[in-house]
Amino acid sequence: TRVFVSRDMASVALGADDVARAFGDAGCEVVRTGSRGLFSIEPLVEVETDLGRIGFGPVGPGDVAAVLDGAHAARLGKVEDLPFFVGQRRFTFARCGVIDPLSLADYAAHGGWQGLGTARAQAVQQVVDTVKASGLRGRGGAGFPTGIKWQTVLDAPADEKFIVCNADEGDSGTFADRMLMEGDPFCLIEGMAIAAHAVGARHGYIYIRSEYPFAIATMRAAIAASAHIVAPFTLEVREGAGAYVCGEETALLDSIEGKRGQVRAKPPLPALQGLFGRPTVINNVLSLAAVPFILAQGADAYAAVGFGRSRGTMPVQLAGNVRHGGLYEVGFGITLGELVNDIGGGTSSGRPVRAVQVGGPLGAYFPPSMFHLPFDYEAFAAAGGLIGHAGITLFDDSVDMAHMARFAMEFCAAESCGKCTPCRIGSTRGVEIMDRIIGARDTSHPEDKGKASTGSARTGEGYLDRALYSRAPNRIDVSIEAQTSLLRDLADTMKYGSLCALGGFTPYPVLSALDYFPEDFGASAPIKEAAE
Ligand code: NAI
Ligand code: SF4
Repeated sequence: TRVFVSRDMASVALGADDVARAFGDAGCEVVRTGSRGLFSIEPLVEVETDLGRIGFGPVGPGDVAAVLDGAHAARLGKVEDLPFFVGQRRFTFARCGVIDPLSLADYAAHGGWQGLGTARAQAVQQVVDTVKASGLRGRGGAGFPTGIKWQTVLDAPADEKFIVCNADEGDSGTFADRMLMEGDPFCLIEGMAIAAHAVGARHGYIYIRSEYPFAIATMRAAIAASAHIVAPFTLEVREGAGAYVCGEETALLDSIEGKRGQVRAKPPLPALQGLFGRPTVINNVLSLAAVPFILAQGADAYAAVGFGRSRGTMPVQLAGNVRHGGLYEVGFGITLGELVNDIGGGTSSGRPVRAVQVGGPLGAYFPPSMFHLPFDYEAFAAAGGLIGHAGITLFDDSVDMAHMARFAMEFCAAESCGKCTPCRIGSTRGVEIMDRIIGARDTSHPEDKGKASTGSARTGEGYLDRALYSRAPNRIDVSIEAQTSLLRDLADTMKYGSLCALGGFTPYPVLSALDYFPEDFGASAPIKEAAE
């Protein structure tokens, strides 16, 4: 009997290796695939039958006999017929969870290399025009048109050009890059080879965060296996060293060059002066992995799906306190509420959803009253948020949004590269202000309600403390209103004065928490009594 078990890192964490071993010991031919992307059914085993691949999940190593009998209670039928999969448009993740990620035969049998073949038969300008016509925009978060970026590199005269793939997937609650690299690595390689052909590059780098050891090993093996197909284009993997800011493209380029990962001022754009000063296409994993489909099926097939200026599909990642966490690839335009409630099934705790954060640690928190928002770059920007890398993290009604705002500032302080003042200093000041707000809110003395005090500030050495001390040496008597106004001023400075998105976007989670959940900041609601 032939069975399929995922070798994706998340599936392995849930016990897939033990399950695969048990089926192997029972005499089955075990094919290790990527994950289908619904983690509540992992470890998932699919058994090849005359009716197709029948799924069982979640299963354990002790379930082999019942699964092979076909009678196991966790029998799911055909996985692609499950509600979670029926509504998806799997353009980029079509093969993920289906094929053996390192089998060239599997890849070719499922449409692999068709896009590269088409591209290589075309003039380079035609390839760039196809990507432009598809409407594909940068899936790392900024949404810049990929075809225009490629055009800039194509038009830049240089002795050497590079393709760099940003696989430093640092956003909390995101895992699409990892799943693609572990589940269909040739797809990324093909996308990079098409980009190389289009702009005239000979060498490419895939910069993968060190926290992704499976992806690193899989990509290295896939590069070795497919070298003869993508030649003369050559590729190598570079491992990150744990800095979130190295996901910022210029810091990433510095890191590949062997320097400390620090943000460069733009201009010059990487498209003109990127890696080693040469014109460089730097794209996210998902942008590059979308390209083989576009070349193989045509720009129109991709652009036919979507909403407004957001064309094609987005692999949305549902995480946090969610019932059906996983990867859901769908055309833009689906509403936030559909994703959270219909697809995600609400919270795993069963309590009401209170907030969702979209776009990683720099994304806005939205309450259910914003669930009508269509998943679209422009709609989210207009609502003071961002799609980012399309991670959606759910929180139930036990979340304390003031603590989440504090976390955003703390995260920025920890990850700041230190190059510019609004981010380096502002984030630390932001933590201090949040400590005062939370301290005042939680104070147990009735006469202290609504007042901040140094006693509650975790870090009492800030300029503000000193200023206030000089006026009131024994007691800082600042209202929550004054502290939140200070927080808004600081957020403004960070938003408009920071060099890159880390400092510039930290205000999104902070201000959205403040605007949508003012009661957690002690405003316009009774101040919470602290439990003594
Ligand atoms: P950006 O708007 O400065 O640039 C977007 C891209 O377009 C860059 O590659 C830039 O070089 C390129 N570009 C801009 N103008 C161009 C032109 N005229 N010709 C050619 N190329 C041009 O945004 P940035 O700072 O690169 O990214 C910010 C985004 O990163 C945020 O939206 C955020 O969502 C996202 N982000 C993603 C994370 C992840 O883990 N995927 C983590 C943190 C942030
Ligand atoms: Fe560095 Fe922060 Fe400035 Fe970005 S905003 S360049 S991470 S200090």
